Amino acid sequence: MATIVPYTFEKKEDSAVYFTSFVKGMKVLIATEKPFAAAAVDGIVEILESAGHTVARLEKYKEKSELLDAVADIDALIVRSDKVTADVIAAAPNLKIVVRAGAGYDNVDCAAAKARDIVVMNTPGQNSNAVAELALAMMIFMSRNCFTPGTGGEIKGKTLAIHAYGNVGRLVGQKGKALGMNVIAYDPFVADDSVFEADGVEKITTIEELYRRADFLSLHIPATPQTKGSIGYDLITSMPKGATLVNTARKEVIDEAGLCKALAERDDIKYVSDVAPDCCADLCNCAGKRYFATPKKMGAETAEANINAGLAAARQIVDFFATGNRRFQVNK
Ligand code: 3PG
Repeated sequence: MATIVPYTFEKKEDSAVYFTSFVKGMKVLIATEKPFAAAAVDGIVEILESAGHTVARLEKYKEKSELLDAVADIDALIVRSDKVTADVIAAAPNLKIVVRAGAGYDNVDCAAAKARDIVVMNTPGQNSNAVAELALAMMIFMSRNCFTPGTGGEIKGKTLAIHAYGNVGRLVGQKGKALGMNVIAYDPFVADDSVFEADGVEKITTIEELYRRADFLSLHIPATPQTKGSIGYDLITSMPKGATLVNTARKEVIDEAGLCKALAERDDIKYVSDVAPDCCADLCNCAGKRYFATPKKMGAETAEANINAGLAAARQIVDFFATGNRRFQVNK
């Protein structure tokens, strides 16, 4: 049983909280409706327990009430895409830090956490390779008629257009180039042109041009109030004949009515998505093999990604309690 060592806070002028003594004996909950690989769980537990913390696990839970009960006495929380809503935060009076083991943190109510001075972090880059490999696999799968009989196409020589050139987008570009694709990318948040130049990727300055030139459009934008529903009919139908829209980002960034209309009108366009859109049945009807979605989000479902992201989350929690390190905080 870990010893509970009380810790002290020192409030600075900007109201940020700094820990001034080494803290052990925190209770950390791993809450994963979609569990990590066993090796990742073992590693997480070892890191946390070696630092003097205790670990609880809630896996494959079905009801939100199970999560609400499990957070009652925890100090720290590790999740994947699990929804950490305001009521979950309210049910955890001792909570000090939430780490989303992964990139996208749209599942965490960052404002509700901030209101209680709870730090929210992600683990950027740790599962990017797994997602990038899935994006390329989806391109080939769609080019080969979902692996059913019939003449397909090759991705070599095709234009791969990357929407958002962050950790995953860059890896998709590298892999696409290795497979002989012509890679172009658009990301208004990457101001430094040398990032594109270093990768031998053509920087595109308007979203319209990106879609107009895309044989394969790989989406890597986060789900934010600005991006939700932002990819719709006009962009999709501006893609060239036979183009494929590949979504390993979030289903919410698609305007589904526009997507359905586009695929119904254009019988050459394909859509492949890591997790089904709400309009799945409509797309099955109108697009047949031009549409495919994974039954459950599987971009980061590799042992390697689970180990990378899970262990990073555990180390960030240990460091936060030991030194106050907030390097990966996303709710400043
Ligand atoms: C992410 O944002 O990191 C990915 O979507 C992975 O999500 P998951 O941990 O639920 O698989």
